[in-house]
Amino acid sequence: MILVTGGAGFIGANFVLDWLAVGDEPVVNLDKLTYAGNLHNLDSLQGDASHVFVQGDIGDRTLLDRLLAEHQPRAVINFAAESHVDRSIHGPEDFIQTNVVGTFRLLEAVRHYWQALPATQKEAFRFLHVSTDEVYGSLAPAAAAFTEEHNYEPNSPYSASKAASDHLVRAWHHTYGLPVLTTNCSNNYGPLHFPEKLIPLMIVNALAGKSLPVYGDGMQIRDWLYVKDHCSAIRRVLQAGRLGETYNVGGWNEKPNIDIVNTVCALLDELRPRSDGQSYTTQITYVTDRPGHDRRYAIDARKLERELGWKPAETFETGIRKTVQWYLDHPEWVAQVQSGAYREWVQKQYEGAAA
Ligand code: NAD
Ligand code: TYD
Repeated sequence: MILVTGGAGFIGANFVLDWLAVGDEPVVNLDKLTYAGNLHNLDSLQGDASHVFVQGDIGDRTLLDRLLAEHQPRAVINFAAESHVDRSIHGPEDFIQTNVVGTFRLLEAVRHYWQALPATQKEAFRFLHVSTDEVYGSLAPAAAAFTEEHNYEPNSPYSASKAASDHLVRAWHHTYGLPVLTTNCSNNYGPLHFPEKLIPLMIVNALAGKSLPVYGDGMQIRDWLYVKDHCSAIRRVLQAGRLGETYNVGGWNEKPNIDIVNTVCALLDELRPRSDGQSYTTQITYVTDRPGHDRRYAIDARKLERELGWKPAETFETGIRKTVQWYLDHPEWVAQVQSGAYREWVQKQYEGAAA
C-alpha cells in the first residue's frame, strides 16, 4: 500500500492511474479537492478496490495519523500543492498554507508513524516529495541547465513555497533520519492538465474561438516533459533512489512559449481545422507580462539517467500530438472543469490584460 497526496490533480491523477495500470499495489489517495482537484480524473477507477479515495487536507494532522495507522503504507508520495504561479501572485496565502505548513504537518505525521514501525518496515519506508525546477530560479540564455547542485533562487510565491517545502524535507532527513527522496521536475504537459496552465489553456481557448494570451514577448523558455514520463521517473526514484538525494527530472525539451503556442495551433489546424479556413494562430494575442516572470528554465537530468537508468519515452513532438488529441477526444472533461470558479479566474487574470 502507498499513500499518495494530491492524487486528484493533474500529475497525481496520472500517477495513480499509471501506478495501478503497471502493478497491483493499492493506493490511498488523499486530496483536498481544491479547484484543481477533480474526481472525474479518476472515473476509470470506480469500483476498483485497490484505490481508496479520501477527501482531506495534508495539513490535518488528526486525519493523517488516522490514515497512516489504518493503511500502514510503505511509502508516501507528496504531490499535494497549490501549483499555479499566476494564482500565487494574486493570493500567496494558500501557497504558504498548503506547500509549507501542509508539507510540515505531513512530514511530522509521517515521522511519528515511521519511527514506530518495526525495523524491517522502517528500513524499507520511503517519503517521496514531488517538487519543481522553479526552485532554482531563472537561467541566463547561455547558462548550463539546472543540476541538483544549483543554488535555490526562487522568484515567485509559488516557487518560494516549494523551495521551503524542499528544505523541510531535506531537514527531516538530516535531523530525524526520515528516508526521503525529492524530485525536481520541469514543466509537465499531457492529459488531465487544468486549463489555467499554458498548453491546455491554448488548446481550449483556440477551440472556443477565444484569444490565445501570450505573456510579454513570448520568448520565455520552459523545458517540457510529458506527464507520463514524469510518473515513470517518480516510480523509478521510489524504487531505487538513494536516500536523502534529489533527482532532477526533464526531457531536454527547451522551447520558447511562442513556439509552443504555434505548435498547438499547427496541430489544431491539422486535426480540427477552423471552419473559416484560417489558422488558429490568428487568435494569438500578446498580453501584459507576468510580474517577476522567470525567463528560462532548463533541467539537466543526467543524474537520474546515470544512477537509475531513467529516460523519457516521449519526444516533444509525440507528446504534444497525444495531448492535443486527448483534449479533442474529451470535450466533456473540458466542459466539466470550466465551472463558475474557473470562469471567475479567467476573468480576473486576463480581463484588460491586452499589451
Ligand atoms: P495540480 O494543481 O493539478 O494538483 C494539485 C492537487 O493537490 C489537487 O488535486 C488539489 O486538490 C490537491 N491539494 C491542494 N492542496 C491540498 C491540501 N492542502 N491537501 C490535500 N490536497 C491538496 O498540480 P500538479 O500540476 O498536478 O502538480 C502536482 C505536484 O507536482 C505539485 O507539488 C507541483 O508543485 C509539482 N510539479 C508540477 C509541475 C507541473 O508542470 N505541473 C512540474 C513540476 C512539479
Ligand atoms: P504555466 O503553464 O503557468 O507554467 P509555469 O509558470 O509554472 O512555467 O506557464 C508556462 C509559460 O507560459 C510561462 O512562461 C508563462 C506563459 N504563459 C503565457 O504566456 N500565457 C498564459 O496564459 C499562461 C497561463 C502562461
